[in-house]
Amino acid sequence: MTAKRIDGKAFAAGVRAQVADHVARLKADHGLVPGLAVVLVGEDPASQVYVGAKGKQTVEVGMASFEHRLPAETSEAELLALIDRLNRDPQVHGILVQLPLPPHLNSDLVINALDPAKDVDGFHISNVGRLGTGQKSMVPCTPLGCLMMLRDHLGNLSGMNAVVVGRSNIVGKPMAQLLLGDSCTVTIAHSRTKDLAAVCRGADILVAAVGRPEMITGDFVKPGATVIDVGINRIERDGKTKLVGDVDHASAAEVAGAITPVPGGVGPMTIACLLANTLTACCRANGLPEPQGLTA
Ligand code: GUN
Repeated sequence: MTAKRIDGKAFAAGVRAQVADHVARLKADHGLVPGLAVVLVGEDPASQVYVGAKGKQTVEVGMASFEHRLPAETSEAELLALIDRLNRDPQVHGILVQLPLPPHLNSDLVINALDPAKDVDGFHISNVGRLGTGQKSMVPCTPLGCLMMLRDHLGNLSGMNAVVVGRSNIVGKPMAQLLLGDSCTVTIAHSRTKDLAAVCRGADILVAAVGRPEMITGDFVKPGATVIDVGINRIERDGKTKLVGDVDHASAAEVAGAITPVPGGVGPMTIACLLANTLTACCRANGLPEPQGLTA
């Protein structure tokens, strides 16, 4: 079997178009412009690229972008003062603090200082608890993007066996909660799981978010399964730098029914979902109906 390719780049463009459409209607009907504030502390090169891409796409869908680039030596008190200002700013509906923060800053403390209603990353302890208890919350962007692609490809997920490989707070754990919310039977596996291949072979839905290049090979995949590869790993091969996922794409695509590529799979969905979350936050803050199909 050669798996169907789930095109995250095209899917993300569709999500951005839906967001842009809704934003234009909010502006025309209510004079509202959703605003996203992104806070970057320090000069981490990868973070600078991400933050630049977020700002650009925010403006492209018609929203207001507020960028705050702070020096690496910013104190906790200074950062908390900025967050307090953004929490109270009515033009700001979403706030994202780019991680990782420099080591002298306590990221749990900083994230939990956000107004949970503006926490478009869904990392605030209140949003984590709300997601875990099935209450309306802000949902982390990467797992939300995976869920959207799974629903689009498979329709109703009810009763399916889902295995999530990886237990991070950003992807693995919220992904498992979302799949449980869609009535999957969910297993969270990780690098220490015994006979990981056998566990994965039980999966109708296999989400790889373990951060190890090409660890999930074809013999981990149930024939016809849907494989979502969240990994983004830079490796050296044949003297060149190459971007690969956590899944060995070539061997997995021989067995899977459908699979996301790297690059062009989950990656582009993350920022698209950040924009969707900002729109959702703006609608909620103003007592307006939420956009359909862009939330969990
Ligand atoms: N750094 C890497 N991924 C993320 C993310 O999803 N959100 C934030 N805030 N920082 C990140």
